[in-house]
Amino acid sequence: MKQTKKLVVLSGAGVSQESGLSTFRDAGGLWEGHDPRDVATPEAWARDPELVLRFYNERRQALGKAIPNSAHKTLAELENDFEVDIVTQNVDDLHERGGSTNVLHLHGELTKICSSFDLGDIQDIGYRELTLGETCQQGHQLRPYIVWFGEAVPKLEEAVGLFKKADIVLIIGTSLQVYPAASLFDYARPGTPTFLIDPAEPDSPLPSYVEHLKLKASNGMEHFKEIIGDLR
Ligand code: OAD
Repeated sequence: MKQTKKLVVLSGAGVSQESGLSTFRDAGGLWEGHDPRDVATPEAWARDPELVLRFYNERRQALGKAIPNSAHKTLAELENDFEVDIVTQNVDDLHERGGSTNVLHLHGELTKICSSFDLGDIQDIGYRELTLGETCQQGHQLRPYIVWFGEAVPKLEEAVGLFKKADIVLIIGTSLQVYPAASLFDYARPGTPTFLIDPAEPDSPLPSYVEHLKLKASNGMEHFKEIIGDLR
């Protein structure tokens, strides 16, 4: 019997752009309106938790209104023919709502909160607001379950393991500016077919073996589906 090939995907904010969620570094992106040091670091949380909560409450509210786009859905459909693992930098839940079953969130999840003491006591919050004064069972303020700049990435090793076993790699909708996520595809075995879907040129040149489909996520996924039909 033919073995199902393993497709490992690294996704970023661009895959959710057509669902109406802002990316970070594009013109008009989230980091144009906010300095990440003010809202996405442990120091910001210690200094001004209200501002941090407001930033993530707004993101969570926008997520509640967003729906998966055809790129999320096509990725989910590929599970019919491939073993698909998605490693996402996104904190949204649109891959899951689009039907994907193996999603590893490297940078946390907007629909979850945790204890600000030890990042334990992870709870679902859905799309509602988190407010100051909401505490975990030990009495510590709850915080968004987001991996902030300067914090360790707890699921990194698991993600590396997936890329090491990949037969095909797809990178979609990420500027590859944030490490360690940006270096994950380097762990794939030499010769692994590797694709990038992104309408923009990457800031730093990619290795020549990466085939760049210079398209938005939805059209790019249609094209990719045809290409990998031959790699099954
Ligand atoms: P960026 O905003 O850095 O990059 C988004 C990428 O998506 C860019 O390369 C765009 O060209 C591309 N893009 C825009 N629209 C697209 C579309 N419709 N289809 C496909 N691609 C499109 O976002 P990320 O790379 O995801 O971390 O950012 C990585 C991390 O930086 C985030 O997880 C976040 C941020 O700081 C934390 O908050 C810890």
